[in-house]
Amino acid sequence: MPRVLISQWIFGEAVDMLRNAGHAVTTTDDDSPMGSDALGSALAGHDALVCMLTDRVDAALLGANPQLRVVANVAVGHDNIDVDAAVALGITVTNTPDVLTEATADLTFALLLAAARRIPEADAHVRDGRWRSWQLVQPQTGSDVHGRRLGIVGMGRIGQAVARRAARGFGMEVVYHQRRGLPREAEAAIPARRVTFDELLTTSDVVSLHAPATAETRHLIGSDELRRMPAHAILVNTARGTLVDESALADALDRGEIAGVGLDVFEDEPHVHPGLIGQRSRVVLAPHIGSATVQTRRRMAEVAARNVIAVLRGDAAPNPVVPPSPTD
Ligand code: DGY
Repeated sequence: MPRVLISQWIFGEAVDMLRNAGHAVTTTDDDSPMGSDALGSALAGHDALVCMLTDRVDAALLGANPQLRVVANVAVGHDNIDVDAAVALGITVTNTPDVLTEATADLTFALLLAAARRIPEADAHVRDGRWRSWQLVQPQTGSDVHGRRLGIVGMGRIGQAVARRAARGFGMEVVYHQRRGLPREAEAAIPARRVTFDELLTTSDVVSLHAPATAETRHLIGSDELRRMPAHAILVNTARGTLVDESALADALDRGEIAGVGLDVFEDEPHVHPGLIGQRSRVVLAPHIGSATVQTRRRMAEVAARNVIAVLRGDAAPNPVVPPSPTD
């Protein structure tokens, strides 16, 4: 009977799917990562691993488990897994695209609106008993979102879902940057226009990041890029923390080089740069909850289970992660 290790707690429905498919499933009630050594020991003798983005699945772990056939990440991002090493060893890596697109786009907009309209500051103002009366220019007077220009970096599924909300719901002008443009009909349907990275940075009122974490995108937004953004601009990141140089961002906020930020992801989670924690004005922070709705997280677990079942049955995985080709 094939053996499946689930590295952290997941919904019972996903466990049942695996058991009903005839697999022996090793589960845990712990919902935090067990660490590399413990994961290495736990994985011995298992044919499949269902893991979270907080589990590091490196070449050493993969190489030490020759019986392993599939690693199913319960996330769309897969920078926690050495995909090249897995491919070289003939191990299939899978992820959970599509099911989290809309929830993550919603959270992106929540952060965008919260930073632009200064919601956390307004909430604290009311709770702390500091609200005295309506004023023409209240302390939390923010900036418009409707009708402004949104620059999206990385126009994959989530980028496009954010773009649709912006263009159709908020009347924003959407520009985007990525190496390959969308087909013309897809651009027209949003609508969105592809621009250079420089034009996006220098002209957008809001910049939202939706690119994967790769060596190439590390510190895509650093001090130089922040300096090129307009002083009234807002930066939103719901992709991966490594895209932004947090220290440079804290400095840029200090110097007033950009007006605000909404971050759901950080360079070294769960640690956040003290320069960001220390700032309250228009700095909105969330603990990597982009896909965190009950419905979405449940679907993610089920997609991971479905991928394991397919591979162990000898079928193609529904959601294989393929390393980028040199031309991508
Ligand atoms: C993902 O799936 O990569 C998200 O970051 C987790 O919600």
